[in-house]
Amino acid sequence: MNEREPERVEAKGSGNRNARILITDHIAEEGIIKLQEFGEVDIRLGVSEDDLKACIADYDALIVRSGTRVTGEVIAAGTKLKVIGRAGVGVDNIDVESATERGIMVVNAPEANTISAAEHTIGMLLSLSRKIPAANQSLKSGEWSRKKYMGVEVNGKVLGIIGLGRVGSEVAKRARGLGMRVVAYDPFISKTKAVELGVTLMSLSDVLSTADFVTLHTPLLKDTYHLIGKKEFELMKDGVRIINCARGGIIDEDALVEAIRSGKVAGAALDVFEHEPPPPDSALLALDEVIVTPHLGASTEEAQRAAAIVIAEEVIRALENKPVRNALNMIYVEEELMEVMKPYLVLAEKLGRLSAQLIPESSRVAEFNVYYEGEIGASRLDTRLITGAMLKSFLSWFTDGVNYINAGAMAKKFGMKVTESKSEEVENFSSMLTLVTRMQGDGGSWLKKTVSGTLFGKDDMRIVKLDDYRIDASPSGFMLICTFIDKPRVIGPVCTILGDYGINIAGMQVGREKAGGEAVMVLNVDSNVGMEVMEEIKKVPNIIDVKLVRL
Ligand code: NAD
Ligand code: MLT
Repeated sequence: MNEREPERVEAKGSGNRNARILITDHIAEEGIIKLQEFGEVDIRLGVSEDDLKACIADYDALIVRSGTRVTGEVIAAGTKLKVIGRAGVGVDNIDVESATERGIMVVNAPEANTISAAEHTIGMLLSLSRKIPAANQSLKSGEWSRKKYMGVEVNGKVLGIIGLGRVGSEVAKRARGLGMRVVAYDPFISKTKAVELGVTLMSLSDVLSTADFVTLHTPLLKDTYHLIGKKEFELMKDGVRIINCARGGIIDEDALVEAIRSGKVAGAALDVFEHEPPPPDSALLALDEVIVTPHLGASTEEAQRAAAIVIAEEVIRALENKPVRNALNMIYVEEELMEVMKPYLVLAEKLGRLSAQLIPESSRVAEFNVYYEGEIGASRLDTRLITGAMLKSFLSWFTDGVNYINAGAMAKKFGMKVTESKSEEVENFSSMLTLVTRMQGDGGSWLKKTVSGTLFGKDDMRIVKLDDYRIDASPSGFMLICTFIDKPRVIGPVCTILGDYGINIAGMQVGREKAGGEAVMVLNVDSNVGMEVMEEIKKVPNIIDVKLVRL
């Protein structure tokens, strides 16, 4: 395969032949075949960032491992991109925030290589404790030196795990099988899980001062960058051994070199480096106490096959707009729950769009509060997706390019605070969804707009509340919403004006708080209502305001 020129593989199957997928790191054949059955696949291994920026606009999907840096600039150039697939777990080489802002899904294969990474860690642990790589090298170079390669047992020693997630947990199980006592630091893991694994949770400093071997299994994040540096080495036991099969950058490599040279650290086994590959003159590579592998944690036939298949399937599902289990920036809903959720998603979109059209022009929306009441409030549905649907359709009224992925980020950018509230109680309906927007008008005064909707059965949606008015209107097509003073000769003249212009009224609802007070009239009309008609309606005595909305 040419490493620079794209290898073009035409679509063979019945999938979306228009979808173009770019793969820039090596993934197993099984995944490539699945992708080829779906769309048109180009493979450009080792592509530079500039070349990637130049070609990415042609693609709907990009699939990488850790070799490709998917920067904000690459993402910005990917104007057609819908999904970025990571055939593995770590997404530190992908600017997920930029992808989210641009509404691009990022999906990974988090479980595919867990066992392989844990087995590699154990391999490194034993290689380090028994100096196997150096002994191998020595014998092959003609030496028979047994004394020089004296090791230590791991049995009875303390293994300190930093990050007790998928890989960390599997390492813990295997280390216990080797007779080690396992302690761990992970601020996000429950005591119950640690107890199940037979692991003692401790503070970071306690783990560091207790362990004979320290192994790292956190993601590389802002918080974990150089998590282990000079200060942390000082806390460790003399003669400690370190293993890093997670990510370079979690250890401060200069501090590690110093700690080895000073004798504090007896040895280190590294599969990952801050810069991959590390420069040939790297001080780490020159140290006998350091054993290395070139990022091989996931390099097994099983892990690569699984990662490639999972990522191909997930990318295809994303391109088909189906729920994606491993998306990092999109909520996943199981298919059977999706069936229950769908009508609510449609209702939420209607409420979002309705509210957007009712808020006064040039007001600044500061709060977007969604209330779930009744059965929906008590259900186990993940309502964040419903809120997302409402937010997406609300924002889409004001700006382009909003989708489920970036709706939250867009709201934040506009300074909107999004909240959800739930209650099992609701009057009159089995479930009710309410959107309350709070906004600041031109003069700085605060306004509130409320719209509520419900479902009668699966498909029968109704708007049941507009601000303080109870109504029962079907949220479809063109709707004329008039607020007026509840006096005679308002409803009739409005209907006459519509009739005079040949606009057919399909449904009408009137809501009022008390006779003679303010009231609202919602008219479902069969066609658009032009400016001229609107102006005429506004002139009807006792009309306060008229708005035409389209749902
Ligand atoms: P995971 O998300 O399942 O686990 C990570 C754990 O780290 C979580 O439990 C999290 O709570 C914990 N954590 C986060 N911040 C922490 C902090 N500041 N201090 C302590 N713990 C913290 O991830 P995973 O699938 O177990 O992968 C772990 C690491 O291994 C990742 O960096 C991943 O990229 C890497 N990895 C490397 C290879 C390889 O080829 N060498 C293969 C697989 C995974
Ligand atoms: C991962 O994060 O999955 C690993 O680094 C494995 C890899 O992609 O090679």
